[in-house]
Amino acid sequence: MTEKDFLPSAYQNSLKEGKVTWKAPSNIALVKYWGKRPVQIPANPSISFTLDTCATTTSITFKEKDDKEVLSFDLLFEGRPKEDFKPKIQTFLERIETYLPFLKSYHFIIETSNSFPHSSGIASSASGMAALSMCLMDIERQLNPSMEESTFLAKASFLARLGSGSACRSIKGSLVQWGKHMHIPGSSDLYGVPYPFEVNAVFQTYCDTILLVHKGQKQVSSTVGHNLMHNHPYADNRFQQAGTNLNQLKPILASGDLEGFIKLVESEALTLHAMMMTSSPYFILMKPDTLEIINKIWQYREETKIPVCFTLDAGANVHLLYPVAAKEKVQMFIEDELAPHCENGQYIHDKVGSGAIKINS
Ligand code: PMV
Repeated sequence: MTEKDFLPSAYQNSLKEGKVTWKAPSNIALVKYWGKRPVQIPANPSISFTLDTCATTTSITFKEKDDKEVLSFDLLFEGRPKEDFKPKIQTFLERIETYLPFLKSYHFIIETSNSFPHSSGIASSASGMAALSMCLMDIERQLNPSMEESTFLAKASFLARLGSGSACRSIKGSLVQWGKHMHIPGSSDLYGVPYPFEVNAVFQTYCDTILLVHKGQKQVSSTVGHNLMHNHPYADNRFQQAGTNLNQLKPILASGDLEGFIKLVESEALTLHAMMMTSSPYFILMKPDTLEIINKIWQYREETKIPVCFTLDAGANVHLLYPVAAKEKVQMFIEDELAPHCENGQYIHDKVGSGAIKINS
């Protein structure tokens, strides 16, 4: 599908008012997206596990208004008006207005809440933009009921991407690939697609415990980080490497090769942070406890042979990935050895999920 395919034809229905609610999960990349060109076009392809527990629930109450020239909305976060989130939503709605011509016809009350603690250092933009996009697409589908399910999902992902790049991987799980790749049929820079190849059962139930090392604001936002990949001395190699890693992941995912998975996923995480450390200006988002945790994971894996590994986002928190069969042992290890390195001892047990769901109000 191209951008043009997301421009709707005239709506079949008219609607005065209504309410829709969707819950969308966060996701964790295995092959990382880092570097982009306008507007939110990834410099390299990526793939992620869709998560389950870490999610955003968003409701939109909409009512037709007289003035159809301006965008109009109220925003409530966790039950309270949230003025400082409004500019981001305003920009997003302006950006997608061409694709959703009904936006100026209604006043919206957007109510949103996260399942994870506020300012836990977990990026809520992926789940937040995905939940919002699902709500908007739900409204569009009511206006245009003949819309195909595949168009509905691709367009929801397309819109979410325009809000926050990685959000396009939070629509439909369990593994989502985003970014044009010559060996992945259906892949696109414009939206995420369910990974089209065989995935071994071990990965369908994989666990991810998020160790909250640092809950404060990041010193460098991911927008700034992505931009530092322009004129970065290793950018071209890195972009190519991401494509190669996606090729290498194919037999690993199909066969359930945990050793291969660990090597590739940890290398991707460290490469992401190496790009930050070699940008100009350079920066470090890991904290001393991030490194302590990584070393403890390596030591534990060496001693027990339990296939647990880590990955990192653009922050200090560590995602611990392991098969469900090892859950009991790994969670004891987390409690005994890793929790002391987390801020206030906090972590969140999550697992691979299946994507956004509609909540019946
Ligand atoms: O979607 P953004 O712009 O917040 O970028 C996310 C980038 C990483 O989380 C570091 C990697 C990824 O692919 O999710």
